[in-house]
Amino acid sequence: MEQLIPIASKLQDVLGVCGQTTSLNLPQIVVVGGQSSGKSSVLEAIVGRSFLPRGTGIVTRRPLILQLYNTNIQDDPSVQSHDMNDLELGESIDQQLSYDVDRTQTTSTDDNANNSLEEWGEFLHLPNQKFYDFTEIQQEIIRDTNRITGHNKGINSTPIHLKIYSPHVLSLTMVDLPGIAKVAVGDQPLDIEEQIRDMCLKYIDNPNAIILAVTAANQDIANSDALQLAKEVDPLGERTLGVLTKLDLMDPGTDASDILYNKIIPLRKGYIGVVNRGQKDIDTDLSIRKGLIKEQHFFRNHPAYGHDRSLQPKLGTKNLARSLNSILMHHIRECLPELKSRITNMMNDVQMELEELGTEHKITKSTMGQSLLSLLSKFTTNFSSAIEGKGNLMTS
Ligand code: GDP
Ligand code: NA
Ligand code: MG
Repeated sequence: MEQLIPIASKLQDVLGVCGQTTSLNLPQIVVVGGQSSGKSSVLEAIVGRSFLPRGTGIVTRRPLILQLYNTNIQDDPSVQSHDMNDLELGESIDQQLSYDVDRTQTTSTDDNANNSLEEWGEFLHLPNQKFYDFTEIQQEIIRDTNRITGHNKGINSTPIHLKIYSPHVLSLTMVDLPGIAKVAVGDQPLDIEEQIRDMCLKYIDNPNAIILAVTAANQDIANSDALQLAKEVDPLGERTLGVLTKLDLMDPGTDASDILYNKIIPLRKGYIGVVNRGQKDIDTDLSIRKGLIKEQHFFRNHPAYGHDRSLQPKLGTKNLARSLNSILMHHIRECLPELKSRITNMMNDVQMELEELGTEHKITKSTMGQSLLSLLSKFTTNFSSAIEGKGNLMTS
């Protein structure tokens, strides 16, 4: 089933090459929750790079609309990209975890040290400026937040638009939001709670949004702002995934097993428990990769989580990415019939165009057309079998 996303991603690219305006319209992933529950940390871990301002208190003070762009778009769609075939959301998590240990000792602990020319960010407010250094992206987010909201904890609903181009991401949009705060501090308006709630609702109200409802495990889940917000717009929990952070900060002797088993406040899509990098890790520039290893280590050695086999799929950032992939997959599945008919129409058009062309043009246009046709046939076959439930799709 892991293969449907790369196929869809590739299909998007092919449709782009063909000049079609159609797209899969993948859902936006939106994080909501209380202040400092770990929303920015969760998003960042899924993307696999350190670039979001994080910390105690109100750090995220404007919405951040993050558009990820996969850069593996090819001019010649018949060329198969290996990267693309393996691609899924959170791919970098596997990558990071599979780095060999020796290498990590000789290189910097800062995961933004290995900046390369293949990944960069661009802000809408700074057109034509490419940021190859992800630490600078983080600084620019802080700078532009301050520019609009001032330096004294103010908030503003004007979003920051950031695009990240990379061969290692799935093309989709993620939204980071300020957390719910109850009491106004600094330059905040007295109705801060209401203002942030409205800001959040605006993004999660979109039926095409997947809500990551983030709650810190060291707080009572019954008071979760995230779940309360999500419930307003998605009462049946069809597009809400519960994320429980800070499992490492629970009182010794307590654990979140019952919540993760969906026994306390059941969500249709359940919960995933994670351990993000803590404040000390941020202060010491602990890399994402080391954070992920630390997380694995925590779960393995924990008295309640380590030996509970059936709980394993509910634990860890990697499984969070997996769950998101599966949700996206279901969405794509729903889009399949329409896409199939679009592709069929497009194939017919290309066919007709080829027939209208004389033999002279065939050398150039026909070669391109043929490879396109064979590629599209392949897609159509894959998609048909997926529609009929015979393909790689999970049938649950
Ligand atoms: P946000 O305000 O919801 O975006 O939360 P942040 O991602 O900025 O995190 C707030 C603070 O909590 C930071 O100091 C993080 O390091 C810390 N934090 C987030 N998640 C965890 C976690 O799972 N464990 C620990 N120990 N700290 C965390
Ligand atoms: Na915070
Ligand atoms: Mg934040």
